[in-house]
Amino acid sequence: MSKILVTGGTGYIGSHTVVELHNAGYTPVIIDNLSNSNIQILDQIEKIIGVKPEFHQFDLCDVTKTTAFIEANPDIKGIIHFAASKAVGESVLDPLKYYHNNFFSLINLLNSYRDKPINFVFSSSCTVYGEPDYLPVDEAAPVKKATSPYGNTKQIAEEILEETANAYDNYNIIALRYFNPVGAHDSALIGELPNGVPQNLLPFITQTAIGKREKLTVFGNDFDTPDGFCIRDFIHVVDLAKAHVAAIKLLEAGNPAGKYDTFNVGTGNGYSVLEAIKAFEKVSGQPLNYEVGPRREGDIVKVYGDVVKSTEKLGWKAELGIEEMMSSAWAWEKYIKDNPLD
Ligand code: WQD
Repeated sequence: MSKILVTGGTGYIGSHTVVELHNAGYTPVIIDNLSNSNIQILDQIEKIIGVKPEFHQFDLCDVTKTTAFIEANPDIKGIIHFAASKAVGESVLDPLKYYHNNFFSLINLLNSYRDKPINFVFSSSCTVYGEPDYLPVDEAAPVKKATSPYGNTKQIAEEILEETANAYDNYNIIALRYFNPVGAHDSALIGELPNGVPQNLLPFITQTAIGKREKLTVFGNDFDTPDGFCIRDFIHVVDLAKAHVAAIKLLEAGNPAGKYDTFNVGTGNGYSVLEAIKAFEKVSGQPLNYEVGPRREGDIVKVYGDVVKSTEKLGWKAELGIEEMMSSAWAWEKYIKDNPLD
């Protein structure tokens, strides 16, 4: 069972990917500094897959520890790199934190493999497209000037990865451009654990529904869309996790497209914020307390992905629909209320 390093593996997408790697016959190894996740997620993963994943706690910005770990683990043949700061709003307030954390960790990892082959999957984002010129947006669409330091770290990281893959002969790299990850594992044992007040829509919806938040404020409904609300390509986190396994397999098989490639990881369907709220109300069987407030600075109006390349070349396609996304997110919120992690 080949070992795959999962950085940020106790996080939301990382933990779901650890489960799917195990299910696909790999041995996931986690590095996480626990700056934005909870170590008890390891116990939760064990409840799902029956084994506790190998875990190492340190910061990938520490070049000494990162280099020593890679030297001591020559049997790691692939890396899925999630570890990064990811809050759009926070990145505007503290750009240096984002540039330091997201680039030092990436560069240290890449430099640790200067003399040996590595398959490397990177967590990127549809945010690189900005407000796309056309929809659904495909991987050939131009990368637009980022509207936040968070988005800029994703764009620059993709450039670093492409140039690295082209300059050296030992890096095989895929960047997965996520749309909007939502939902939770169907066991309801792992899911999204936002720190403090949720910045993203779904956790705010479920925390409002469970009574943890008084109401959801929808950031505007006067956009140029059919119902006036923003449109997003929501994708179930388990489908997203499976895309990472598909990417590792493609790299192991030798990606015919070359040493660097990008893939959209979405459903190809756009839902408005209002449609998402209505889908949640349907599966939860209760009305959601929300009101429409002012727009949020920097929000993209409409974005959803063209997933033909991912289906044809990555051999992956999302299988779970909006109702499964909502029901799994709701089941997780109810679970974590009754079983809070320390
Ligand atoms: C979705 C829609 C909001 C909260 C960002 C990053 C992306 C990824 C996910 C990290 C928008 C509306 C939200 C709320 C609302 N990053 N909304 N009230 O901004 O599409 O994507 O997060 O994983 O890279 O760009 O996600 O969930 O914040 O917003 O009305 O309280 O929900 O205006 O239209 P976003 P989001």
